[in-house]
Amino acid sequence: MSAHSTLDYLISPGGTLQGRIRVPGDKSISHRALMLGAIAEGQTRIEGFLQGEDTLATMAAFHAMGVEIDYQDERVTINGVGLHGLKAPKIPLDLGNSGTATRLLAGLLAGQSFDAEITGDASLRRRPMRRIVDPLQQMGADITCSEQGTLPLTIHGGQGLRAIDYALPVASAQLKSSLLLAGLYASGTTCITEPAVTRDHTERMLREFGCELQRKRNRICIRGGSQIKACHVHVPADISSAAFFLVGASIATGSDLILERVGINPTRDAIIPILQQMGADISLANQQVVSGEPVADIRVRSASLHGIDIPQDKVAIAIDEFPAIMIAAACARGRTRLHGASELRIKESDRIQAIASGLEVLGIDVRTHEDGMEVRGGVVSGGTVDSFTDHRIAMAFSMAGLAASGPVHILNCGNVATSFPGFPNLASAAGLQISISGESHGG
Ligand code: S3P
Repeated sequence: MSAHSTLDYLISPGGTLQGRIRVPGDKSISHRALMLGAIAEGQTRIEGFLQGEDTLATMAAFHAMGVEIDYQDERVTINGVGLHGLKAPKIPLDLGNSGTATRLLAGLLAGQSFDAEITGDASLRRRPMRRIVDPLQQMGADITCSEQGTLPLTIHGGQGLRAIDYALPVASAQLKSSLLLAGLYASGTTCITEPAVTRDHTERMLREFGCELQRKRNRICIRGGSQIKACHVHVPADISSAAFFLVGASIATGSDLILERVGINPTRDAIIPILQQMGADISLANQQVVSGEPVADIRVRSASLHGIDIPQDKVAIAIDEFPAIMIAAACARGRTRLHGASELRIKESDRIQAIASGLEVLGIDVRTHEDGMEVRGGVVSGGTVDSFTDHRIAMAFSMAGLAASGPVHILNCGNVATSFPGFPNLASAAGLQISISGESHGG
């Protein structure tokens, strides 16, 4: 995976967002569909698959473990090898920028009969892995990380896992999902209790693949050895990608935009009530459930926003949307306060610091805390902002350009292709005045 560090965006100020667009498929769901399809009995078909670098890294990992996967555009066919059919990879699995691929695959690999090693790019190599290593070791896995608790992960197979009853120390869907996947290979029933609700795509998709799970409030249990049966997965458009447009259309006067067939799973959709509480004009139409996931068309029109205290119960389920939400806060009247979000410090970048330093460049008054930040809305100026190679920081600041008084130049945007290939083209079609400079790349 290349670093794309020279790809920059230049946003000319002004413009409105108009029309109907469909953002790419949900990243979380695409990863999970590949993983369950690979260990299922039979052939799984995926439609609406995200062809981002993160999900393609997951696909390459399963290729390396002997799984036949064909794909053309957004359609993928996987010939599942069954729970015990994966083969030893001959080289370390390089999962690029993807924390989700790393943590979920670690759980899956802990239960295999072969050895494997996981590595990734510079950002991924800084991210904490002890949160998965500790409980997987408790299950009997032979898995180690570096002394600093980071990649590479080294897994020695053939250990025979046992079920655990584990209370997650952090609200993390990646950790929960890693243990659920390991639980498939454990003797007994693995139970996991979460401190707050996190995205439940793994649970929903396991059910779609015929695996029974028990859930009582925040406790989920899975029986080892449950069979996974191939199915047909329709991936909705990613609400985390739609988030940039929800904010962009809210802050750009005269905007009226429809985002088609977006996933509105209640464990992912908190950006909608948060923006509505700030005064946004957002409505849903054509709601239905597809492959166990609720989807809808979302209409957003520009509105006058005001600052709020972000409700605590929405923090974990809007965790990826705070870069976008803080751009809305910068354009809102008054103060927006966020607390209880220290997980933002260990995403693809330290997002609290990355958002704050970008907003300061654009003339906005920001204060940071260990677990959050306070943004006072004001006049957004032009300036040069570093994305710190974080895709969501790059896209959030692109939207800031709509409300800025001068051009916004965003550095190091190549990693946008991890989650949103084609972002500049789609954003430009909707009305963002965006141009790219530097090394040419799909982001
Ligand atoms: C994800 C879970 C979240 C999120 C990430 C995707 C997933 O991470 O930030 O982008 O697909 O499970 P945590 O669960 O670690 O908070």
